[in-house]
Amino acid sequence: MRVIGIETSCDETGIAVYDDKLGLLSHTLYSQVKLHADYGGVVPELASRDHVRKIVPLIRQALADANCSQDDIDGIAYTKGPGLVGALLVGACVGRALAFSWGKPAVGVHHMEGHLLAPMLEDDVPEFPFLALLVSGGHSMLVAVEGIGRYEVLGESVDDAAGEAFDKTAKLMGLDYPGGPRLAKLAAQGEPNCYRFPRPMTDRPGLDFSFSGLKTFAANTIAKEPDDEQTRANIARAFEEAVVDTLAIKCKRALKQTGYKRLVIAGGVSANQRLRSSLADMMQSLQGQVYYPRGEFCTDNGAMIAYAGMQRLKAGQIEDLAVKGQPRWPLDTLPPVD
Ligand code: KG4
Ligand code: ZN
Repeated sequence: MRVIGIETSCDETGIAVYDDKLGLLSHTLYSQVKLHADYGGVVPELASRDHVRKIVPLIRQALADANCSQDDIDGIAYTKGPGLVGALLVGACVGRALAFSWGKPAVGVHHMEGHLLAPMLEDDVPEFPFLALLVSGGHSMLVAVEGIGRYEVLGESVDDAAGEAFDKTAKLMGLDYPGGPRLAKLAAQGEPNCYRFPRPMTDRPGLDFSFSGLKTFAANTIAKEPDDEQTRANIARAFEEAVVDTLAIKCKRALKQTGYKRLVIAGGVSANQRLRSSLADMMQSLQGQVYYPRGEFCTDNGAMIAYAGMQRLKAGQIEDLAVKGQPRWPLDTLPPVD
């Protein structure tokens, strides 16, 4: 089976062709970062319009790169939610329309299921069951995964997502959007132990997260410290360590609770090197294993949508002709595939 995947939930237009025997045949990505940078964050209406501009040329390119035509495609997978409704509708309209005109089945994919399954695009594939730490710009969650569509959300953020906390704190430091990777770069120049940020909600039981207090703590620290590059780097480092520590503490707790030995990390923040190495060390000491996608598949992309969509198309989960976007969509309401 060969599936074309379409991702348009936020500020990246991602298209990919995935074949179940040959693997990933092509993937194209257009990032709108420059478009939104002047505004310090994603402007939803501008995002929708830019997806409209880019989606068809990128689909043509992805097909050409995969050396195939519409006749070689067996199904179309598009991100149905969660995300920005206008942006989602662009992918849903195009995906649905292509499916209709090509006479192929279409499936609407849950964006976070796409992230969760992104490590399956790599050679070293995790077996079920595993614990998934999903950390993106819009969501932070810990999920017990027993199979595709067999998800139990064990904990999630009660306020800002981890990526959102990175982006907001970066903005306070005068770093451009999207601030997460820029803050991480600055933190690499920081000295350890200059500041001690709290580890929110780790002093009580439970697996939920709260990151908005860290941003306030950062704002207060920035206000009372000198405004020079090294100080900002030291603050960035302390902030990053607090986020990473908090996520690691909650992962350890969830692994203990579930008894699982495998940990998957995915979503934009899983590109963070300090997070990766901290969780790798932790899993080594627990004699378990950690899995994550390559850097470019941590953030939004079409490949993860093609892969997740293929699993659902194989299970006969086909959408009707309606064009549907679902801006809010709890992950644990998805049906299993077997
Ligand atoms: O998964 P993603 O591309 O989009 C959403 O589904 O939200 O995640 C984007 C988020 C942004 O908040 C971005 O700042 C963050 O991931 N991010 C990082 C890093 N790379 C991306 N945060 C920290 N360190 C990084 N290296
Ligand atoms: Zn995402």
